[in-house]
Amino acid sequence: MAHFVSLASVGVLALVVPHSLAVPFVSEAETTVRSNAATTASVVAVTNVTSHGAYTGPPATTTGALSTEVTALTIPARPPEQYKLQYPADGQLHQPQPAPYTPGGGLGTNGTEPVYRVVSDFDYESVALALYQEWIELDLFHWGLARFSAEEFEAAGLNAEDRFLIQFMANQEVGHATALTNMLGRNAPVQCTYNYPVTSVREFIDFNQKLTRWGESGVYGFINHLDSRETAQILLQSITTEARQQLIFRQFDGLFPMPVWFEIGIPQSWAWTLLAPYISSCPANQTRLIWQNFPSLRVLNQPNPARINGSDVWNETTGGYANTLSTRNISRSESCLNATTGQNCAPAISRNRTIPLSYPGRQVFLEWDSPGKTVGPNNSYVTSVSAGYPRYAAWVSQLNVTYTPLQDVNGNTAYTIQPNTSTYEGDPAVNGTIFLAITDDDLFVTPFNLTQINPHVNALAIYQAG
Ligand SMILES: *[C@@H]1O[C@H](CO)[C@@H](O)[C@H](O)[C@H]1NC(C)=O
Ligand SMILES: *[C@@H]1O[C@H](CO)[C@@H](O)[C@H](O)[C@H]1NC(C)=O
Ligand SMILES: *[C@@H]1O[C@H](CO)[C@@H](O)[C@H](O)[C@H]1NC(C)=O
Ligand SMILES: *[C@@H]1O[C@H](CO)[C@@H](O)[C@H](O)[C@H]1NC(C)=O
Ligand SMILES: *[C@@H]1O[C@H](CO)[C@@H](O)[C@H](O)[C@H]1NC(C)=O
Ligand SMILES: *[C@@H]1O[C@H](CO)[C@@H](O)[C@H](O)[C@H]1NC(C)=O
Ligand SMILES: *[C@@H]1O[C@H](CO)[C@@H](O)[C@H](O)[C@H]1NC(C)=O
Ligand SMILES: *[C@@H]1O[C@H](CO)[C@@H](O)[C@H](O)[C@H]1NC(C)=O
Ligand SMILES: *[C@@H]1O[C@H](CO)[C@@H](O)[C@H](O)[C@H]1NC(C)=O
Ligand SMILES: *[C@@H]1O[C@H](CO)[C@@H](O)[C@H](O)[C@H]1NC(C)=O
Ligand SMILES: *[C@@H]1O[C@H](CO)[C@@H](O)[C@H](O)[C@H]1NC(C)=O
Ligand SMILES: *[C@@H]1O[C@H](CO)[C@@H](O)[C@H](O)[C@H]1NC(C)=O
Repeated sequence: MAHFVSLASVGVLALVVPHSLAVPFVSEAETTVRSNAATTASVVAVTNVTSHGAYTGPPATTTGALSTEVTALTIPARPPEQYKLQYPADGQLHQPQPAPYTPGGGLGTNGTEPVYRVVSDFDYESVALALYQEWIELDLFHWGLARFSAEEFEAAGLNAEDRFLIQFMANQEVGHATALTNMLGRNAPVQCTYNYPVTSVREFIDFNQKLTRWGESGVYGFINHLDSRETAQILLQSITTEARQQLIFRQFDGLFPMPVWFEIGIPQSWAWTLLAPYISSCPANQTRLIWQNFPSLRVLNQPNPARINGSDVWNETTGGYANTLSTRNISRSESCLNATTGQNCAPAISRNRTIPLSYPGRQVFLEWDSPGKTVGPNNSYVTSVSAGYPRYAAWVSQLNVTYTPLQDVNGNTAYTIQPNTSTYEGDPAVNGTIFLAITDDDLFVTPFNLTQINPHVNALAIYQAG
């Protein structure tokens, strides 16, 4: 039982080549040394999930998020630590060097042996959440490949090589699940069963594109807050792979692959809120999580990337939370799959949409649930809020949270206007696959303290900007 990942076992294949600067060399190198593969670290046990669909079993005996003694209702905003304001940052050296070519400072740089292991509740709960995400991706990618025929994939513009790429992404998840399991130890969450709001290849791709968005952003939100920087290192190297998956699924969705300058990070409870509805059940002794489940937000005119005029839609998603596209009511003439250049959205390296999916000034109609609904594995988690009366829509993208007032608030419905705001000059903040929350306040938060928004959140969704 590995409590931490040892990198020492990584084999080095040394090719002993005569070292001489003398030419001539031949262009076809000849391997002269044979090497048996070094020990290969085994991967976690993966069983193919065979059942999919909504949970139908008995009510769960254990419900609600994991919790312990709670010492305060919220975390107050405090002034910055003074030392962070003192380094001169003038390009000169201000500390002795611990070794040649080695600047003073840094964390984990003084030669102590790395320990690839979680060291706090914060670490455990964060990495366990990431593991739940890796598990669903592993199943989801396999499931889609098995669920749809080669003909259905071909009709959506995805050929055998594209499908192999999806298969390879599933294999990557085996590695990610293994690394995270090793860092968590023997009570690490295991694979569950799932339900996917997907009935066509296009819906599958769009769901993947959105699910990997919160998978990626969920980790960006906490990785720099981890106590264990060694754990953060491994996690970083897995999440950058996930980031590529997200981009590739956008390409498969016929979207511009990366219409932003910065990828957003989100709080753990947001990632869990968006993930949990698609987990049907987990084994009896599954390790539970501490994170909050916010109520579902539905974007009633959520832009539909499968349409030529993607913003000309009403109630065309497969449900709240992910708000992924539905293809059920798109006629051939409205579909952008085989449309002309500028309107075409077949899989491609990059696409220009002449009719944007969304735009500043767009009226966005919203409807959200009240708290108190059961959700997640075995319906054993319960949605909750501590926010008061809903007053704002929070557009969370790139480095920014932009609030727009809710208008015509009527029970659990309202509309708002998509803001015209830039992260930096030339970089419109609201673009790509972003997060939209209903809040009771326009609290100022920045990327490193975004979690402070949670007590003010009423409901949460993915918004398809572009
Ligand atoms: C799981 O399914 C894949 C095909 O999707 C197959 O290659 C693999 O052998 C299966 N694994 C198990 C443990 O059944
Ligand atoms: C978040 O950080 C910003 C500075 O980046 C600060 O002005 C703001 O007050 C902080 N918000 C909260 C709620 O702590
Ligand atoms: C090494 O650095 C860590 C912080 O990164 C510190 O806690 C520890 O005391 C240092 N050890 C030595 C031997 O300096
Ligand atoms: C697009 O074209 C492909 C190949 O010609 C075809 O199989 C598919 O049905 C078409 N789809 C739409 C929505 O027109
Ligand atoms: C959970 O239960 C299964 C089956 O009873 C068992 O194999 C596994 O070791 C248990 N896991 C934990 C963390 O107790
Ligand atoms: C979003 O990005 C795409 C691709 O760069 C661009 O064509 C579009 O104008 C952008 N939308 C907004 C609202 O900035
Ligand atoms: C969840 O449901 C599954 C399937 O009905 C069952 O096997 C499992 O024991 C349940 N888990 C919990 C924690 O109740
Ligand atoms: C696309 O749909 C929007 C919203 O219905 C409409 O305002 C716009 O004129 C349409 N654009 C085109 C080019 O048809
Ligand atoms: C949206 O469509 C669903 C069925 O797909 C329906 O149950 C719901 O009432 C509709 N909502 C609105 C606001 O039209
Ligand atoms: C399908 O689209 C037509 C118009 O193209 C509309 O009248 C109808 O209400 C839509 N049906 C559903 C279920 O959304
Ligand atoms: C793509 O769109 C951008 C603006 O969004 C425009 O500047 C560029 O000319 C377009 N390129 C093509 C080939 O359509
Ligand atoms: C977005 O965030 C960046 C970086 O913190 C900041 O400089 C910029 O002013 C913000 N933009 C808006 C419109 O608030």
